[in-house]
Amino acid sequence: MYSQAKVIAGGLAHIPVVIAVFYFILTTFNKRALKFVEELKTKKTESKVVEPKNTAVSKVENSKTESPKTETPKVVKKKHADVPVNIYRPKTPYEGTVIENYSLLKEGAIGRVNHITFDLKDSDPFLNYVEGQSIGIMPAGEDANGKPHKLRLYSIASTRHGDDFNGNTVSLCVRQLQYEKDGETINGVCSTYLCDIKPGDKVKITGPVGKEMLLPDEEDANVVMLATGTGIAPMRAYLRRMFEPTEKEKNKWNFKGKAWLFMGAPKSANLLYEEDLQRYLADNPDNFKYTKAISREQQNTKGGRMYIQDRVLESANELFNMIEDEKTHIYLCGLKGMEPGIDEAMTKAAEEKGLNWSELRPQLKKAGRWHVETY
Ligand code: FAD
Ligand code: A2P
Repeated sequence: MYSQAKVIAGGLAHIPVVIAVFYFILTTFNKRALKFVEELKTKKTESKVVEPKNTAVSKVENSKTESPKTETPKVVKKKHADVPVNIYRPKTPYEGTVIENYSLLKEGAIGRVNHITFDLKDSDPFLNYVEGQSIGIMPAGEDANGKPHKLRLYSIASTRHGDDFNGNTVSLCVRQLQYEKDGETINGVCSTYLCDIKPGDKVKITGPVGKEMLLPDEEDANVVMLATGTGIAPMRAYLRRMFEPTEKEKNKWNFKGKAWLFMGAPKSANLLYEEDLQRYLADNPDNFKYTKAISREQQNTKGGRMYIQDRVLESANELFNMIEDEKTHIYLCGLKGMEPGIDEAMTKAAEEKGLNWSELRPQLKKAGRWHVETY
């Protein structure tokens, strides 16, 4: 028989055992809990470390030779990656103010061709561009379906420093499109809008766009330019960059190569930027050559209108000597219709040098030396 005192004493005697069991359970649980928290911390830290991924193949090119995985990838910049594009798009165009708009033609010229400059200084983000790019213009008004007019592209005729060298304008060289249809004169929508706008007017601008007509970086590159009419626009920007004294001070690009412009215009009075070109010629006789084809005043050897492709043929030997030099780039801009004629002339000119133009042209294109923008 147990006495009450014995029962109490026996119960008290179990207390240390119970405490020991509880202590054991608690410490074990704590250790596990701490381990779990530590594991969690490590996982969170890991997820913050972004592993360099080779997603942009054009930007990060791993060495093709077998190399240890720890080697830092070689960063190869995509060609012309720094050239700005589409800063402004049609849904949110920049409204630039017209600074000036004047005719580039002389008395007796055919048609209407204007030089138009827009102020960009209030654009935010800033609408910067480089020589050889284009901008889009959205003419005011609506089309026949009551929809806003679509944008039209125009080659930029100014350097990135602008005509006043302050770096906050862009200029265009625009011919008004006019043609006859059913006895009626039709005026092009955007070109007429542009030729008619006045200083102070606001114009919706998009872009810049285009990487096809960019100048090479090399100061000793040779630049052959084949232009008809307003196709002179990008060439005017190139030639200013090469030869305009204040522009040269700004751009620090000391052009040392040879620039050769073939220019096609219907009449002498239609020659664009002629005074500037003559000045560049006088100041840079060793670096600039200027060959004109004035279609309605001069005749080719067959008695037809003189076109730039006829001039190309006349100069075949000298031209192909230049083309054989890998520092030479060729730029073609203006009427789409001139392309077959230029191709034909280049084929004949190449033959005279024992070369095959149909093989050579793709090679030049692949090498980034054949640049075409026709419309
Ligand atoms: P629209 O009202 O659009 O009329 C053009 C349409 O009229 C044509 O699509 C055709 O359907 C019709 N048409 C045209 N001619 C005839 C004809 N003879 N008979 C029957 N129908 C005809 N232009 C410049 O002046 N300067 C530049 O520097 C310049 N750069 C350009 C750069 C690029 C990359 C491109 C693509 C084009 C460039 N243009 C340039 C052309 C310009 O974009 C416009 O196409 C041009 O100004 C005509 O536009 P528009 O609105 O006046 O004519
Ligand atoms: P033309 O119009 O006498 O036939 P613009 O844009 O000021 O009219 O100038 C374009 C120049 O290009 C003009 O001299 C024009 O000659 C000429 N031209 C027209 N068609 C071609 C062609 N297929 N190839 C080369 N030049 C051309």
